[in-house]
Amino acid sequence: MKRISQRAVSRCCPVLVALVLGVFVFTAVRLRHGSQIQWKSIIHAGLEHNQGLDKPSWVPGTASPPSDRPSLEPGTCSSEIESLRLPELSLSDNILYSRRCVRPVRGKVDRDAIANISRPLITSTTTVNLTSCIHADIEPCEPLTLHVPSPYPKIQYPHLIFGVATTYDRIRSSIPAFAHWLSGTGAQLVGTITDANEPNSDFNLTLLEESFRHAGVLATFKPPKLTKRISHEQDDARPVPVEHHHFMLIRELLALSTPSTRWLGILDDDTFFPALYPLDQELHRYDASKPFWLGALSDDFDSVKLWGFMAFGGAGVFLSMPLARMLEPHSETCIRDTTINTGDGILRDCVYAHSRTKLTIVPGLYQHDFRGDASGFYESGVRPLSVHHWKSWYKEPIPQMAAVTDVCGDCFLQRWRLGKDTMLANGYSITVYPGKEGTKTVDFGKIEGTWLHPGHEYDFSYGPLRKKLVEGEEKKTYKLREVRKGDGVFRQVYVYEGSKAVEGGMDEVVELVWEL
Ligand SMILES: *[C@@H]1O[C@H](CO)[C@@H](O)[C@H](O)[C@H]1NC(C)=O
Ligand SMILES: *[C@@H]1O[C@H](CO)[C@@H](O)[C@H](O)[C@H]1NC(C)=O
Ligand SMILES: *[C@@H]1O[C@H](CO)[C@@H](O)[C@H](O)[C@H]1NC(C)=O
Repeated sequence: MKRISQRAVSRCCPVLVALVLGVFVFTAVRLRHGSQIQWKSIIHAGLEHNQGLDKPSWVPGTASPPSDRPSLEPGTCSSEIESLRLPELSLSDNILYSRRCVRPVRGKVDRDAIANISRPLITSTTTVNLTSCIHADIEPCEPLTLHVPSPYPKIQYPHLIFGVATTYDRIRSSIPAFAHWLSGTGAQLVGTITDANEPNSDFNLTLLEESFRHAGVLATFKPPKLTKRISHEQDDARPVPVEHHHFMLIRELLALSTPSTRWLGILDDDTFFPALYPLDQELHRYDASKPFWLGALSDDFDSVKLWGFMAFGGAGVFLSMPLARMLEPHSETCIRDTTINTGDGILRDCVYAHSRTKLTIVPGLYQHDFRGDASGFYESGVRPLSVHHWKSWYKEPIPQMAAVTDVCGDCFLQRWRLGKDTMLANGYSITVYPGKEGTKTVDFGKIEGTWLHPGHEYDFSYGPLRKKLVEGEEKKTYKLREVRKGDGVFRQVYVYEGSKAVEGGMDEVVELVWEL
């Protein structure tokens, strides 16, 4: 009960929280679907929301920044090592380097089976001094054959239109994430820029649209239409909450819909789709000419108990055109009469009050109401259609992780067991399990409960769970830090943070170089 009441505080009284803690009101209102929230973490999450959004997860917080590496005479350093010297990668001065050249064999494959490869993944390592680029000869790149699905077909999605309500800075810093799944797809993005009407804001929405177009995304950005708060009180002088703008997206999306539009997607600005194709395939299972409300519950059942049975906004919510047309004329009434002041909650009340439609739960959409270490999820072989909270409640470089979908579609997060002790979760991590038994000691059919408080409230979404292993003792994890494309290859850089594990330790780098 105690935890639930803390959560209730976090979601129902954000303005109070803001006043008490001096946190900017907007960031506090954004706190949603709380889970295990302590006062300390409320402050933490609130502040996180204001920071550079696409800052990669490995940017060190307390760790010392990487030294600026001196530039070397051309030719001193091979191009692959040169690229590891970049300060953004934050690697220690000396690294243990290893690589494999992946030959993807595309075709029919059981994506969800863990294929066994008898040879180990790491076959030779070289110590490299990144300051001087001095190292012994690096062995020729040993090939690694991986059977993977075919890439997704390149098709257009003019029948999809997506909406977000967010601030100018947040959307601008999210261009790479939106571009990953929207670029070149013909699907539309519509943004209500919630702070565009603020006095002295000199945001240039045309310029913002151009930046998105430059990244291949068809985007339209508008200042909010709601300038005065809708409420039961006369002349309510409080600011319009972002949640109301979020709900009003139905009207904005309908206004910009075309005769081809079939689905309106209402998103949080940190909702991420690894790829549009599998999402669209899933949407095809529902008859868009009928009223449909599609989405996912929170993955934390305590959140469901607290906020109710509804499509939780961060996972992505989809309305068919008939349902959207039914609700839109009631927008103001729905905001005024809502029992809950969150965009997804207003929508829920509105659907129940003005249609006979009920929620259809779409498997694969994830609200991600967990905090801390998300590796159990990403290493489980899951095929997520959407993910959320990846730059606040937990930190993962999701756009880089999902980049491999361009190479082999559903192979993102596909797993392989290599040798006796190694598991590759493609695009996320390489994990080595020590001891003679290696991977035999682990039940890969279960999800490792790595996040904070992996209790029974997650059973209905992730069960059965297995216990979290101790990093550095029971497992050693190389996590994806960066990807690079070009020269006919796609490189994934996986890093084990040896320098953080022990004083004076070396980071270890495993590069998977995919031949295209
Ligand atoms: C791989 O090996 C494991 C453990 O030995 C076995 O359970 C599994 O069935 C094998 N996977 C495949 C696809 O053969
Ligand atoms: C790497 O090389 C530089 C320059 O030669 C040297 O000063 C430094 O001590 C070396 N680093 C390590 C960890 O050996
Ligand atoms: C906004 O950006 C557009 C496109 O770059 C430019 O043409 C326009 O002059 C800008 N408007 C203002 C007010 O700066």
